[in-house]
Amino acid sequence: MHDRRSFIKNLGAATLATGIPLTQLNANRNPTADVNVRVGLIGVRGMGWANLSSFLKIPGTSCIALCDVDSSLLERRALELESSFGKRPKTFNDHREFLKAKGLDAVIIGTPDHWHCIQITDACAAGKDVYVEKPIANSITEANLMVEATRKYNRVVQVGQWQRSDPHWIEAISYLKTGVLGRIRQVRAWATVNYGKGFDVVPDSPTPPGVDYDRWLGPAPARPFNQNRFHGSFRYFWDYAGGLMTDWGVHMLDMVLAGMEVSSPNSVMAIGGKMAFPDNAAETPDTLTTVYDFDNFSLVWDQYMAMGTSPYLEESGEPGVAFIGENGILAINRVSWKVLPFQEDGKYLVEALPPRKSSVNPLDEHTKNFYDCILSRKDPNCTIEMGRDAALVAHLGNIAYRSGKRLEWDPAKGIISNHSKVNSYLTPSYRQPWKLWNGS
Ligand SMILES: NC(=O)c1ccc[n+]([C@@H]2O[C@H](COP(=O)([O-])OP(=O)(O)OC[C@H]3O[C@@H](n4cnc5c(N)ncnc54)[C@H](O)[C@@H]3O)[C@@H](O)[C@H]2O)c1
Repeated sequence: MHDRRSFIKNLGAATLATGIPLTQLNANRNPTADVNVRVGLIGVRGMGWANLSSFLKIPGTSCIALCDVDSSLLERRALELESSFGKRPKTFNDHREFLKAKGLDAVIIGTPDHWHCIQITDACAAGKDVYVEKPIANSITEANLMVEATRKYNRVVQVGQWQRSDPHWIEAISYLKTGVLGRIRQVRAWATVNYGKGFDVVPDSPTPPGVDYDRWLGPAPARPFNQNRFHGSFRYFWDYAGGLMTDWGVHMLDMVLAGMEVSSPNSVMAIGGKMAFPDNAAETPDTLTTVYDFDNFSLVWDQYMAMGTSPYLEESGEPGVAFIGENGILAINRVSWKVLPFQEDGKYLVEALPPRKSSVNPLDEHTKNFYDCILSRKDPNCTIEMGRDAALVAHLGNIAYRSGKRLEWDPAKGIISNHSKVNSYLTPSYRQPWKLWNGS
């Protein structure tokens, strides 16, 4: 933390890629506030930039360092910050050098999933607080190491599953916990997304100028550059991510775990494949159903690329969750939540609640909670354990799909207990010189 005056000036008219005009962003700030949290961003292109833009709306923050392996993007972002705040952040290609930036308090990690574990363990060891994007890791072992590093170094770590800070989800989950729906027998969660068509196979090509592709790959296997596997669409290739199951899955499954107060399933099975677009470039399935057994309820996850309609909440095609009780169904997505009552003898068993909508910007709530916790040293709304649990459930779904087996999970040992060979999916094999954090 630092006690020095804000350097905010120069209300530039630049617009962020996220669509938030920097002028508006600056207008929300108190220009006289002391800068007491200096943040840096690793991975400046997509969600990382959205997180930083949200964080910088908070009075008392500044961005002093950026890190990316794509030098033209890095330069663009540095210029955008300079034109808006009057001071250019330091720029880096290697996150280990970035972590040495003088005065850095906190780090936002917005890189592809396969990089999160290395970067968060390095950041925690360097004494930084961290906002890390979801899914927290591309494997279950890495997710566990991230929990260990957070606790060992006593850091404040917020995971980007921002429903945890959204009053709309919080209100729905506390309604659920009143018990008026009766026993919840099943939970259904889904991502029926309206994108995913036209992802054609393209040949490998020269690495774009200014991109350090070897460092983009990092611990992932070496391979020639391919545009499909790079910015944004890396999420459909197993070396870097887990498709919709982990991308949207962790957001919705996190809310299932919160609502049902559980952390891991007893077993999981999966069926699906590249059924809609068998010839497109993605490795991950465009159609997948995973079924989990918890002690007192079952959980069904459904994912469909290029669908864009939603069960229970026809008003919008957003991913969502439905808690199915004895008396009715609570259905929720990022847009609204409502209660669909069951009937008996012509009477509703529970009051029908029409759609209730969110009114705040939930990402701003989540970054503000991170900021508050940096100051208070309390655990933030989405702890690293919550991130780990959601990642665990999602990755188990993918492992069931990839292995074609019904898997039993032993939470005490942290292994798949009925198919020992399938445990090889739990831990990635890092490409040298990158190494899994060894706890010291
Ligand atoms: N919370 C949300 O709602 C949400 C939404 C979108 C994405 N995400 C998550 O954010 C993460 C990033 O996704 P995205 O779509 O923004 O990706 P992206 O491809 O748009 O951006 C990733 C950036 O990281 C950079 N990068 C890659 N390796 C790096 C390294 N070693 N060091 C520094 N920079 C590196 C890339 O060059 C790129 O600029 C993913 O984990 C994704 O799941 C979360």
